[in-house]
Amino acid sequence: ENPEYQAEFDAKIDAGGYIEAKDWMPEAYRKTLVRQISQHAHSEIVGMLPEGNWITRAPTLKRKAILLAKVQDEGGHGLYLYAAAETLGVSRDELLDALHTGKAKYSSIFNYPTLTWADIGVIGWLVDGAAIMNQIPLCKCSYGPYARAMVRICKEESFHQRQGYDLLLTMMKGTDEQRAMVQDAVNRWWWPSIMMFGPHDKDSPNSAQSSRWGIKRISNDDLRQKFIDATVEQAKVLGVTMPDPELKWNAERGHHDYGAIDWDEFWSVVNGHGQGNVDRLAARVKAWEDGAWVREAALEHERKRVAREHQ
Ligand code: ACO
Repeated sequence: ENPEYQAEFDAKIDAGGYIEAKDWMPEAYRKTLVRQISQHAHSEIVGMLPEGNWITRAPTLKRKAILLAKVQDEGGHGLYLYAAAETLGVSRDELLDALHTGKAKYSSIFNYPTLTWADIGVIGWLVDGAAIMNQIPLCKCSYGPYARAMVRICKEESFHQRQGYDLLLTMMKGTDEQRAMVQDAVNRWWWPSIMMFGPHDKDSPNSAQSSRWGIKRISNDDLRQKFIDATVEQAKVLGVTMPDPELKWNAERGHHDYGAIDWDEFWSVVNGHGQGNVDRLAARVKAWEDGAWVREAALEHERKRVAREHQ
């Protein structure tokens, strides 16, 4: 603790300025950022799996090329975010170890299965749509390296959202069977997508402090509401309905009301008991183990290069 540095830090936060890697920061601020940025990085990497599942089964060459690019983007986002977390003094090995041993959290959404091709469109539209809604305010968060990483990530997420919506528009112009497939995917993904924003503000233990520190610029519930309001209009254009009979416009509030979220399901998924948790973790651990020889070869190559330089 250092009162002088603390005052300087507080003043910078209050003025809406950025904290940089080499600046003094309270230990709790550093820990919160490591927690959030690493959870975010893990989400990007685990998020490659549900969609990777469909690369070999994309219906056309064009859709395959788009999906490949998108899944690669997610991998890039993960690496970008691990690098941002490393500026806070943690190592990538520590972070990955926490993921592989099941200690780290990642977004609940990636524990749901992708059953049909329409799921790929719905992930782009709803899941990436929700992700952008949450991530645009993070471009202005108080930690410089995280904020700057988010700028590029949001641009790419925007392409992801559009490709999903475009895929769904195409399917909706197809056969009755294709339209039914889209509606079924919307029915399965809607509630998990609005859970992505996290618990209600009153039940969110980290919100008050993260808002005070300028990490969280818009609250979980406000972002969820913004997402619902925007998405309902897009659903009309698409010609699908949301699986929530209580979803309706409230003129007084100027927002859509919506039904009760099943928080038991949310916490069950977050705590490892969703449909996909075991498979997702197993796939990540296998990828890590299968990649061991690449890491060893890279280290050996570097060792030889350094040795040659010192000859
Ligand atoms: N899935 C899994 N865990 C979640 C989720 C979720 N959808 N929402 C909240 N949680 C966890 C939080 O991580 C926190 O756990 P912890 O204290 O053990 O770390 C706990 O539930 C309580 O939630 P909050 O107090 O609201 O936590 P926080 O202030 O961190 O807010 C939020 C959660 C909004 C997700 C925030 O961390 C955030 O903005 N993260 C960056 C964005 C992100 O990670 N997106 C990933 C999905 S999008 C994508 O990758 C394509």
